[in-house]
Amino acid sequence: MLDSLKILYTRDQIAEQVRRLGSEINRDYAGREILLVCVLKGSFLFFADLVRTLTCPVVVDFVRLASYGCETISSGVVEMRKDLEFSVTDRDVVIVEDIVDTGYTLQTLYHRLLDRKPRSLKICTLLDKRVDRRVDIEADYIGLALDDGFVVGYGLDYQEKYRELPDLYVLEDAPPVDEERPI
Ligand code: XMP
Ligand code: MG
Repeated sequence: MLDSLKILYTRDQIAEQVRRLGSEINRDYAGREILLVCVLKGSFLFFADLVRTLTCPVVVDFVRLASYGCETISSGVVEMRKDLEFSVTDRDVVIVEDIVDTGYTLQTLYHRLLDRKPRSLKICTLLDKRVDRRVDIEADYIGLALDDGFVVGYGLDYQEKYRELPDLYVLEDAPPVDEERPI
């Protein structure tokens, strides 16, 4: 059966928010070097667009996480599949996420990186889905708010599909699939 996709945010609306986030980061970090951490895979397009709006010096690095649970609902058990290449100690670090949903993923990553004693640690997310939040974690830079629904496109997937779409969509009637969910 074909999935039913409903447009949520267009590429122009996304681009406008990416520019705004970039200018907020440029203002806050003027003249300082940032270690920008891309949380694979979902944020790869957002990360690529955001990094090109930055005027401060940037070093990029990548992590890969996976949570166990069903396809559309996070379980809270988060495993690090690929760690950072660089040390975060004494650096200004910004985590770049596609979406904060329950918050489990970000909470796990945030505390793991905090243990390594960065000079500062902030979070930038394209989408913020507060209704599902289960833990007390807030992003410092937020692109777009989201009420409900499972989102695909612009890097985000459902069973590895739809990452290539340039706009963001809500996947209607996404059936839960019990399996490990790579992020
Ligand atoms: P949690 O619940 O831990 O989830 O905050 C964050 C991670 O889960 C993925 N996620 C989604 N992926 N559409 C997606 O394609 C969604 O609506 C969605 N909600 C959560 C996402 O990878 C994020 O990093
Ligand atoms: Mg995903």
